Amino acid sequence: MRNNLSVNHLLGIKYLTTSDINLIFQTADNFKKIINQPIKKVPSLRDITIANLFFENSTRTKLSFELAEKRLSADIINFSSSNSSVNKGETLLDTVNNILAMKVDIVVLRHPNPGSAVFLSRNVKASIVNAGDGTHEHPTQALLDAFSIREKFGDIKAKKIVIIGDILHSRVALSNIFCLKKLGAQVSVCGPSSLMPKFLSSLGVSHFSNLHEALEWCDIANILRIQLERQDVNYFPSLREYAMSFGVNMSVLNNLSKEITIMHPGPINRGVEISSDVVDSNHSLILDQVENGVAIRMAVLFLLSGKLNNNKQ
Ligand code: CP
Repeated sequence: MRNNLSVNHLLGIKYLTTSDINLIFQTADNFKKIINQPIKKVPSLRDITIANLFFENSTRTKLSFELAEKRLSADIINFSSSNSSVNKGETLLDTVNNILAMKVDIVVLRHPNPGSAVFLSRNVKASIVNAGDGTHEHPTQALLDAFSIREKFGDIKAKKIVIIGDILHSRVALSNIFCLKKLGAQVSVCGPSSLMPKFLSSLGVSHFSNLHEALEWCDIANILRIQLERQDVNYFPSLREYAMSFGVNMSVLNNLSKEITIMHPGPINRGVEISSDVVDSNHSLILDQVENGVAIRMAVLFLLSGKLNNNKQ
């Protein structure tokens, strides 16, 4: 097996090979052991500087990247567009080039516009990590989701995973579909037809419009929030009616002929797509996903930093 990635940037799961994904998992296995020891820090990125550029709200991804970078001993700077000169009209490219003039090696970018990470990778001299670009991709979320399934079940191959909710606006759904299919899983989606992309069949996933049938089919249900901030029109009558048809609660789970595992990338809207008792039940992998996010992001940053050093030689 190779010990480096086939890519210089992490722009999306679409651009990774199955070997890349397995290498990230094996590296994350080692980092997970380290961050569970009393001394959680290693000097691996001591001479690397990372800029975290967040042009959109985030709790988990931002804090998880920041902690991963600190655990690897990188120097870090944090930028949030809400209190920056973006509000005075500065472009993304000018903002990033000014930050790179301060000698930055890796840029972690969250941006509301699909394609912004690819655009930066073509126009600046730094390794770019996509931390979520609009409705396009959220590769580290998909990696930590698949890593959490692998941790619980030992293997992902042939596992049946249904992704439930707002597939149309979800970068998590797209990255998960790419990642799980590369790892040999069977993937379906479930939700109202109005929240399904037109190109769904080209992704090789089937669609359930009935929640009970979807949950009976799957081993794992990954439940997504309704992304109201990305919806310019109403895609269903009301959140209450969405919850009645597609909300996962304990009575829905108790009506199944088997136990299934529940995942959610967060943020959660309790009582809409998922009930509190399911979030907090032992069906849920939600906090394992968050914990695994740090090890996965350490692995991604460590492997990309190895490519930087190769490029410098
Ligand atoms: N899952 C996820 O991307 O959460 P945040 O938006 O809080 O980063």
